Amino acid sequence: MEPATFVLFGATGDLAKRKIYPALYQLYIDQKLPSSFSFIGLGRRELTHTSFQANVEKSLLTFSRSDVKDAVRIKKFLNSFQYHVLDVDRKEDYTKLLKLVEDREAELNIMPNRMFYLSVGPEFFETIATNIHESGLGSASGWKRLVIEKPFGHDLESARQLNHTLNQAFDESDIYRIDHYLGKPMVQQMGQLLQSTLTEQDLRTRTIASVQISAIETLGVEERAGYYDHAGAIRDMFQNHMLQLLMMLTIEFPKRSSADEVVNLKSKIMKSLMPLNKIDVTQHVVRGQYASGVIKEEQVVGYTDEAGIALGSHNDTFIAARLRVDDPFWKDTPIYIRTGKRLKEKVTRIVIEFTSEGPVKDLLTIEIGPDEGITFLKSRSDLAFSDVETSLRSQLSFTKKEVNVKDAYETLIHDALLGDKTYFAHWNEVELSWEWVQPILDAYQDNLIPLHIYPAGTYGPQEANELLMKDGFHWWFDN
Ligand code: BG6
Repeated sequence: MEPATFVLFGATGDLAKRKIYPALYQLYIDQKLPSSFSFIGLGRRELTHTSFQANVEKSLLTFSRSDVKDAVRIKKFLNSFQYHVLDVDRKEDYTKLLKLVEDREAELNIMPNRMFYLSVGPEFFETIATNIHESGLGSASGWKRLVIEKPFGHDLESARQLNHTLNQAFDESDIYRIDHYLGKPMVQQMGQLLQSTLTEQDLRTRTIASVQISAIETLGVEERAGYYDHAGAIRDMFQNHMLQLLMMLTIEFPKRSSADEVVNLKSKIMKSLMPLNKIDVTQHVVRGQYASGVIKEEQVVGYTDEAGIALGSHNDTFIAARLRVDDPFWKDTPIYIRTGKRLKEKVTRIVIEFTSEGPVKDLLTIEIGPDEGITFLKSRSDLAFSDVETSLRSQLSFTKKEVNVKDAYETLIHDALLGDKTYFAHWNEVELSWEWVQPILDAYQDNLIPLHIYPAGTYGPQEANELLMKDGFHWWFDN
């Protein structure tokens, strides 16, 4: 791997502490960082290098994988970590930063390959990218890369505006948009796993009747009211993670794809997604918000009683939708997607239901998190309908996710350092996702879609079940 400088904006923030430092440290342990590696952390607060290193050490001791919490190694790793104060709006600060980066490159005798990781609120993306460009930080002879994480815009128009500004400073090929679902092992290995689970015959002789993609959570809005109350489940999960899961799954059928094809095929799927309009959206989308309830024996408050949520907020904490991909393979298969907060359990799962006669159901389940597994479940024709689900459930097998399993950030940061963009969101996909979602946002805005209130600790509003029942299906494994 080529030597590089890692410039982290937002170095004292929560994401850095929980995800970025543990990931970098693990890459260091696994010898997957460049041999010459310069790290410069930036933040608003005045901090000495030493106290910054002590803070990072604390977060590594708390959040890094349990088998490597070794104080001596941590110290060695942090030796090269520097910290500097930067006000994102002050142009002089970028000029100073350029000097620092160059001095450090000279000291370590490394090429000016620079990765700018923006672990800051999205409202700062444009300012920082522009200042990186104008200060000359991005004009060295080595490579330059910009790493950002969702939200990429608030709607179609703002996403386009953001991208336009970023493109003044960075080419699309240099922008790495993280969607952490693309870093999940089960998502990355989907093709391989399907190949080892399904035979050619399975694909030839069975027809896919429906697909269900669920990412349900027990957590509520937590400390993120300011962001979440303006985003809702549709922007927080659906427009990005859920549509990425849909893309990753559908491109694997009918035949497996190679990693290089991924980006192109994903856009093709998004283009084939049957568009909704503001009016017919009501037939295909269910919007929900949690009320108080009980989750795992704990009483929790309703959304509008959470700290920081606007009085009488109409924000969505749940969405279920029926989608259709208009291509020769998928055109007859409804795809149901749901995601929401304060539901009965935490699970991200894909269920593919195959057509068959009578009560016989064959299912392929892909468990993405927190446990992982892929199982092809076959039901027996002699079972009564009511026993089919019980029988299928008993066959499910997952591997409990171990504590020491790779985190998505580890894989993604490593890929970004290598320059491999396979598992990053390309602008084409992001734009197409916003295009598809925009009529739903408009319908929400105009209150064309009712907001169904569901008790916390359930699987969401009854209307989400009816969405499937109309087509003769039901959500599998809700219990
Ligand atoms: C984040 C959302 O992107 O994904 C959170 O902002 C959500 O609201 C989280 O809780 C879920 O991720 P995971 O990996 O726990 O399924």
